[in-house]
Amino acid sequence: MKQTITAKQAMELEDRYGAHNYHPLPVVLAKGEGPFMWDVDGKRYYDFLSAYSAVNQGHCHPAIVNAMIEQAKTLTLTSRAFYNDALGVFEKFATEFFGYDKLLPMNTGAEGVETAIKLCRKWAYEKKGVPENQAKIIVCQNNFHGRTTTIISLSTDPDARGNFGPYTPGFEIIPYNDLKALEKALEDPNVAGFLVEPIQGEAGVFVPDDGYMAKSSELCKQKNVLFIADEIQTGIARTGRLLCCDHENVKPDILILGKALSGGVYPVSGVFANDEIMLCIKPGQHGSTFGGNPIAAKVGIAALTVVKEEKLAEKSEKLGKIFREEIMKINSDMVEGVRGKGLLNAVVIKPKNGKEAWDVCLKMAENGLLAKPTHRHFIRFAPPLIITEEQLMDAMRIIRESVESFN
Ligand SMILES: Cc1ncc(COP(=O)(O)O)c(C=O)c1O
Repeated sequence: MKQTITAKQAMELEDRYGAHNYHPLPVVLAKGEGPFMWDVDGKRYYDFLSAYSAVNQGHCHPAIVNAMIEQAKTLTLTSRAFYNDALGVFEKFATEFFGYDKLLPMNTGAEGVETAIKLCRKWAYEKKGVPENQAKIIVCQNNFHGRTTTIISLSTDPDARGNFGPYTPGFEIIPYNDLKALEKALEDPNVAGFLVEPIQGEAGVFVPDDGYMAKSSELCKQKNVLFIADEIQTGIARTGRLLCCDHENVKPDILILGKALSGGVYPVSGVFANDEIMLCIKPGQHGSTFGGNPIAAKVGIAALTVVKEEKLAEKSEKLGKIFREEIMKINSDMVEGVRGKGLLNAVVIKPKNGKEAWDVCLKMAENGLLAKPTHRHFIRFAPPLIITEEQLMDAMRIIRESVESFN
């Protein structure tokens, strides 16, 4: 690999010319392949973040990258002013893959969530009969659904909200994993939807009690309220099933996907629903210049094909169990616990002698493994799902040695 810039230069450039809206680990990456990334000096790391679960299929998966290159040489963007020869094929493929009548393609996760909110409100006025401008969507404390003005309006994170008001009304926040609170909130006849993450990823991989998804979806059904699953992080094999909702045989009325829908090579997100809901949106009422472009369509098909052909859900389920077992064998009082499903896990780190999750991540980076703290005391571990068992065991050694170095 030819080095064109030093790590120091790259970090200085970002610091000098980029907005300071992130606080990255001091590692400058230049290449990725499968479960690995390399920095500008050629040092190899296991990637245990997977770009927040976007790279489930592994870095630069050849089938996905080739699909992108081929399409990029042929036709990249038409806008939706015209039909293109790839979008319909993708929509048929993806809706059959996930079992819905229709797909509304967007680009980023946040746009997918915005789309779901608009769709839910439209359905509430036009099908459920909620009076104009009264529709309410129930959401959960500590949620993470993205960064737009409307989405941060339903956030409870002071960093996400602070000084970005005024906020979009129409949301009620209830505690996560609390069926009683949901039942009570659903008493309001103007409730249109319940928007929820099957596992709260950004909050620190909070796994709700068994039955929470199934029961909350049932409660919504009883009240004619749409159950909207944000599976942008948990979906597409990450938690050991194709969708995290599959663990409890729940079929959301509206399903939001993003991230791994493209294997991380291109921004592709989508909202899935059946006709009764999706056809509430008519021409001109929603859209995106890039949403459903031919590259996204080809990349989406390739990315989902990899998930199926390489049995990534099964792998994630099996390797996730090994991950959690191995974490519990670490000989350190800094490890307070581990939680997760499949290969979406978080380790709870108890500070020791002033050292916190961030310091553990720095040590792991030094030893060749990249992960990021979420909040101060959790480290999320989410490797690409194509990682082999042998590679996972090698990575576990790095994690163990790094944590135990603080003993
Ligand atoms: C559950 C969930 N929803 C929405 C988003 C937002 O996705 P994006 O960053 O692509 O807008 C994320 C991103 O981390 C997420 O984890």
